[in-house]
Amino acid sequence: MEKLLIKGGNSLSGKISCSGAKNAALPMIAATILCDEKVVLKNLPYLQDITTMFELLGSMGSEILLDENMDFTISSSNLKDIEARYELVKTMRASILVLGPLLAKYGKAKIALPGGCAIGTRPVNFHLDALKQLGASIKLRNGYIEASAKKLFGTNIKFDGITVTGTENLMMAATLAEGTTILENVAKEPEIVDLANMLNSMGADIQGAGSDRILINGVKKLSGTIFDIPADRIEAGTYLVAAAVTKGNITINGINPNRLMRVIEKLRNAGANIDYEDSSISINMDLDSPRPVDITTAPFPEFPTDMQAQFSVINAISSGTSNIYETVFENRFMHILELNRMGCNIEVKGNHAKIKGVKSIYGAQVMATDLRASASLILAGLCANGETVVDRIYHIDRGYERIEEKLNYLGADIVRLPS
Ligand code: EPU
Repeated sequence: MEKLLIKGGNSLSGKISCSGAKNAALPMIAATILCDEKVVLKNLPYLQDITTMFELLGSMGSEILLDENMDFTISSSNLKDIEARYELVKTMRASILVLGPLLAKYGKAKIALPGGCAIGTRPVNFHLDALKQLGASIKLRNGYIEASAKKLFGTNIKFDGITVTGTENLMMAATLAEGTTILENVAKEPEIVDLANMLNSMGADIQGAGSDRILINGVKKLSGTIFDIPADRIEAGTYLVAAAVTKGNITINGINPNRLMRVIEKLRNAGANIDYEDSSISINMDLDSPRPVDITTAPFPEFPTDMQAQFSVINAISSGTSNIYETVFENRFMHILELNRMGCNIEVKGNHAKIKGVKSIYGAQVMATDLRASASLILAGLCANGETVVDRIYHIDRGYERIEEKLNYLGADIVRLPS
């Protein structure tokens, strides 16, 4: 397995651009199932999760072409198969995003039931309960979700809990349902707004995405579109933290700062100077140690769970004691044990991490357990004394495009070691 070797201690400086957002791109690829025409997606990030989603669509019969501008044209008319097999779903839970589109367009879907994963049990009951309310029949058999519906009918649905991909699945299914669907207690993440914008550009009628109530007037069919994927806010946030922990001074281009307001606020509390314009964010950290910042993760617009592991590193080298409460996933502190092996002083009890800042940390051999945990280990490696080797970095390649290239461009010293 490939590893990253990081020589710590370099301060980052310079400018980089963000890639397209993984968590916006994945539902958009699934949404191509809803129409018979070609959909062109621009600015797709080159990531393992995107490849897996293409593999899934390809296995069902979609045609996917990459042109000289690196734009993808996806044609999902006449799928020959409506099954997401376990081999693919077990490597990427976001495969569940094809359920809503398949049901709406083909009236049936067979999707392997995603199991738990490194960060939590992650059930999909909210997706299934809501699809049933649209009129789908759903059976769980031999580890698969078997869904069918002659037709979906719009209705009022209130989610029992906030779910990002659940909201996306229902929004996609309801575009082709008969009548009006109102979704309440939905996720408000920017990626929901991006998906609604894409679907509306295909002829859907969706209002209210980004608020906690979405109204969808069903239409008879959707058409093709050309859509540009917005930049990845979590990638941008991760690089901002990289600057904060290395006393750096960097600018990230192509990112809308409104998508990162809580992260910016917490970085300022940690002592970073931050300026932003319409589509760029600059950070300059001149404190020797960041100030500790308390964090509680929660759905957007609150502090994102996908930035929790990265902020653990800021707090770990801060000048005091801080508390992190993880309220979205029940097991998202796997990085802490590895950080403690690098000299951090962090105690975890349930969903609470108490972090006592230390003056310096040291390099070690560490193991990545999931995507954001891997990011935090790389960030720790950047500010540690000596060399850090991060193992199992296939996790990082699922969600960060060319991470070592981008960080090296800013002055880091990272080498990818072959397996
Ligand atoms: N939940 C249920 N039942 C459901 C759905 C969710 O109990 O039917 C629970 C989950 O177990 C979790 C909470 O609700 O405790 C929130 O889960 P959600 O469904 O919102 O997560 P998701 O849609 O599976 C997306 C992102 C995650 C991100 C979360 C939260 C994608 C492809 N994934 O997951 O991204 O952490 O929302 O913001 O959009 C990542 O990029 O590293 C990542 C894990």
